[in-house]
Amino acid sequence: MADLGEGEMIAGRVAGTDVLLCQVEGRFYAMEDLCSHARQKLSTGRLRGHEIQCPLHGGRFDVRTGACTASPASLPIKTFPVTLEGGKVCVTILERGSGAPTGLF
Ligand code: FES
Repeated sequence: MADLGEGEMIAGRVAGTDVLLCQVEGRFYAMEDLCSHARQKLSTGRLRGHEIQCPLHGGRFDVRTGACTASPASLPIKTFPVTLEGGKVCVTILERGSGAPTGLF
């Protein structure tokens, strides 16, 4: 399993997509490591509870749903399904018209 403690996050790349994985209240959440406002990496931001704050302008997103919770961002970010397989965290990237590439953390 990823060496990821409670309230921590780690960045990685799955099928050409920059992915951010975090653990909150014992559950893992995966999302695109890219703010919807001005394409800043969220992995350099701050995780507080279920919200991640963008380091550039302070926009916030709910890691459970990708919903934007604070301006200046207004659009959601992509989130990805997470499963636990053999002690690893498996993130599945679902893209229309393609298979379902996965990555392990
Ligand atoms: S780039 Fe993230 S809030 Fe502006």
